[in-house]
Amino acid sequence: MDELIIDKIRTTPLGAERIKRNLGITTDDVVVWCKNVIQGADLAMLLGKNWYVYKGGIVLTVNASSHTVITARKLSAKIRTMTDIDCPCLPEFLYQAVYIPEGAERPPRHLINEPEIFIYIKDFGSQDGDLGVVAEQNGQIVGAAWTRIIPAYGHLDPDTPELAVSLLPECRGYGIGTKLMKSLFTLLRRNGYKKTSLSVQKDNPAVRFYLRLGYKITGERIDHAGHGDYLMVKDLEE
Ligand SMILES: CC(C)(COP(=O)(O)OP(=O)(O)OC[C@H]1O[C@@H](n2cnc3c(N)ncnc32)[C@H](O)[C@@H]1OP(=O)(O)O)[C@@H](O)C(=O)NCCC(=O)NCCS
Repeated sequence: MDELIIDKIRTTPLGAERIKRNLGITTDDVVVWCKNVIQGADLAMLLGKNWYVYKGGIVLTVNASSHTVITARKLSAKIRTMTDIDCPCLPEFLYQAVYIPEGAERPPRHLINEPEIFIYIKDFGSQDGDLGVVAEQNGQIVGAAWTRIIPAYGHLDPDTPELAVSLLPECRGYGIGTKLMKSLFTLLRRNGYKKTSLSVQKDNPAVRFYLRLGYKITGERIDHAGHGDYLMVKDLEE
């Protein structure tokens, strides 16, 4: 079953009750409501026997063969420590971490192969300070935050790991990034680190996100592409 056919979407009485309860909605026709969500979906992924349909912070689980909507939940990813088996997903999250100003075209994927960018993931796990966490939704990794001690844009000193973070676009703005960052801070403290740094383009809305998480702007510089960046540092002991 490689596509969802809107006319075939159905649910069971129990499914309808579960969907209404989980989402706190009061619609009389859950099937029509689900069809609208599916038609306007941000993302639909087929994983095993189910489709997972993402729309505005909601995830519908739809059985692929019967087109039955089994359940719906608010987006709330599970956070866990990154392991070796997660490393293949790092190129995707490195690409997603590249800032694209509103209305600008997405850069080509091979951009991440430029040495000053690839250094954030090259042989990840091989050196001190290589620590990370991932966010999982329905068994799929939807976000990652990781640190390294590398001579990159956000390097502060040899004792301070530099952070990179991103989520799939459909999952941004629902608090998952905040949960990822807080878990990574805990992991860094447990590993004896006292600070963590990062570099961010000045006009990236993520600057507000970092300030809210306790980062301070400690410097400014111009990157290789001519963008103005902030160097930001978070004191993990505060
Ligand atoms: C930055 C990011 C990890 C935050 O995770 P999140 O789950 O979206 O964040 P939360 O919901 O916990 O917090 C919301 C904040 O995230 C930031 N944010 C939300 N959407 C964003 C986006 N598309 N791009 C950048 N930052 C974004 C904003 O600061 C927002 O705060 P605001 O509502 O005051 O504007 C995530 O939005 C993302 O992947 N952005 C694109 C990649 C990126 O810019 N990475 C940082 C490179 S230095």
